[in-house]
Amino acid sequence: MPSISKKGQLMPQSPIRKLVPFAEKAYKQGKTVYHLNIGQPDIKTPQVALDAVKIHSLDILAYTRSEGSEQYRQKIAKYYANNDIHVNHDDIIVTTGGSEALLFAFGSIMDVDDEIIIPEPFYANYNGFSTASGVKVVPVISKIENNFALPPIEEFEKLITPKTKGILICNPGNPTGYLYSKEEIKKLADIVKKHDLFLIADEVYREFAYDGATHYSILQEESLNDYAIVIDSVSKRYSMCGARIGCLVSKNKQVIQTALKFAQARLSPPTLAQIASEAALETPQSYFDDVIEEYVDRRNTLISELNKVEGLKVANPKGAFYCIAELPVKNSDAFAQWLLEDFDVNGETIMVAPAAGFYSTPGVGLNQIRIAYVLNKESLIKAVNILKEALKVYKD
Ligand SMILES: Cc1ncc(COP(=O)(O)O)c(C=O)c1O
Repeated sequence: MPSISKKGQLMPQSPIRKLVPFAEKAYKQGKTVYHLNIGQPDIKTPQVALDAVKIHSLDILAYTRSEGSEQYRQKIAKYYANNDIHVNHDDIIVTTGGSEALLFAFGSIMDVDDEIIIPEPFYANYNGFSTASGVKVVPVISKIENNFALPPIEEFEKLITPKTKGILICNPGNPTGYLYSKEEIKKLADIVKKHDLFLIADEVYREFAYDGATHYSILQEESLNDYAIVIDSVSKRYSMCGARIGCLVSKNKQVIQTALKFAQARLSPPTLAQIASEAALETPQSYFDDVIEEYVDRRNTLISELNKVEGLKVANPKGAFYCIAELPVKNSDAFAQWLLEDFDVNGETIMVAPAAGFYSTPGVGLNQIRIAYVLNKESLIKAVNILKEALKVYKD
């Protein structure tokens, strides 16, 4: 039989999706499963975006330009200007989700065996994109004790080698919910300039900043014009995960020219989804005000309920819609499986994301889980109660 590539064998499985067969088993047993494991918001997509694809008058569903339609990119630039981020439409390449923007960024700045430093825990698919690009993730550990703030800059500096090409941050963070301050971004700016590295910021959760805090984009740091690459997406902002539209933004012309070649190879981002995403930019501010109010309410409920659970430690998230909780268990992978297979409270159980998959240092995060608060408050209260009851009887 012909053989599978080494790269293919090394591609990591999604740490969340590997629990799916156990969830299916739970459904077959007639259990209700509260999904705390995925980042699929239950918030309604803005009506303007849904309407735009219903009323379009296209006769041919043609390719658009590889970098995305000019009209859409002009409007994205205006969206950024409203967020005090000043870029031109030709600093933007529209992609098939933030996922493709990450692949283009990796492909544009790194060769096989190059290294990228990422504070962990991080969005698990960074591992997959790195493996697909043949590059090595070098993790720097951030800690639950200080809410997963930026690790001391000396820790980054220690890890820089001749192969290091960049630092990647997620702001606000999935899975940590941490929102980097302007001061932390400035520290990163200094280190990337000093060592001539790229700084990639995944800002797909930009709007999800709570408690009056404002998100500070790396594109607002003018001195970073040659260094900064932003990854963005409509998926979470407008609850449009299925549209598959995102973008890569950089003031560095060489980065854009290179990313464009990757974009040309895949011809075009999806046409109908660009129409929906362009219309989504007309979403009234009241939509975001309501969404943020809802998430803050959910976060407050979740954190206060979790704090009542004995032996559990939780970081207080200031953004996105995730938090990391440390449990009094040895192996949260086994615990998550047990919850689905062997446990219920009146026919109801929960599905959580074991956090080890969000670390690349082996053995770290084994007693942690990620909780996504994408369910309504009543469901969150029930879910935490199930977790509390489960921890009373679980033995590992
Ligand atoms: C931090 C982060 N970056 C990127 C993505 C990719 O999103 P998409 O490809 O849907 O834009 C996600 C999706 O969950 C994410 O959480």
